[in-house]
Amino acid sequence: MKHFLSINDVTDLNQLITSGIISKRNPFGDADLGKNKTIGLLFFNSSLRTRLSTQKAAQNLGLNVIMMNVGQDGWGLEMEEGVIMNGDKAEHVKEAAAVIGRYCDIIGIRSFAGLQDREKDYREIVFEQFKKYAEVPIVNLESATRHPLQSLADCITIEEFRVKERPKVVLTWLPHFKALPQAVANSFCEWMNPMNVELVITHPEGYDLAPEFVGKGQVIYDQDKALEGADFVYGKNWSSYNNYGQVLTSDPSWMITEAKMSLTDNGKFMHCLPLRRNMKVADEVLDGPRSLVIEQAANREWSAQAALREILIGM
Ligand code: CP
Repeated sequence: MKHFLSINDVTDLNQLITSGIISKRNPFGDADLGKNKTIGLLFFNSSLRTRLSTQKAAQNLGLNVIMMNVGQDGWGLEMEEGVIMNGDKAEHVKEAAAVIGRYCDIIGIRSFAGLQDREKDYREIVFEQFKKYAEVPIVNLESATRHPLQSLADCITIEEFRVKERPKVVLTWLPHFKALPQAVANSFCEWMNPMNVELVITHPEGYDLAPEFVGKGQVIYDQDKALEGADFVYGKNWSSYNNYGQVLTSDPSWMITEAKMSLTDNGKFMHCLPLRRNMKVADEVLDGPRSLVIEQAANREWSAQAALREILIGM
């Protein structure tokens, strides 16, 4: 694997999931694979899980890790080509990416959607420019449209907790007063499509995701109906794709409660975290036996290790 930007970079999903599970059982089995190599982790946005799990995974593989909060500590980076740089951006990505590529053998980047301009966000300019100018493998630590390390951890978690050969997996929109990106929901759908699951997506009207991510997922606007018989319920808020970046409703009846979970087939609850308790999901669900959120977050280490391992093997 050259880059890890989306599922399109994965040649064998089952093998990647298995690799994560093997690393979980034996974290230091490839402790020399990254010896004398350096990964740079660049954060344009905040993080808890991605930052710590990717650093830990890299260290398990023997990589040196350097990290930068680009959004706070670095020079403002101009991403567009051919512009007159007379604004607040002091450095162009052409130089910045090329320089970081000389210091690092792999670069991980987190850069969220701005939610102002759909065409610009879905163009993924930050990742495209680093890919073009850094000349080293790029790892997506959550982009404007995708969060593949989260999705791989979700696949590992479903693989570990599935009790049916083809479980019903329901992605449900959750209420939130803030506008959040579609990245986690997009990516989850993109990774569930090739899995042996029945994928159902439920959200209020107006929150449809881009069709290329929905794929063969079935959209049901009635949340209660969608949850019937679910084996896994994956909660996430996202803002509108069609009315780009807008919050059309924050209807509290979409919050996941024990009453909602009782519609499922003894279903497990998943969320990528962070989340706001009792606004998106009730305490009774998060603190109860159905919740997999901590297992999911723990699996972020193993998804990162699986992805970095594939890149290192291919170098
Ligand atoms: N799920 C996730 O990516 O968490 P962080 O934003 O804390 O990294």
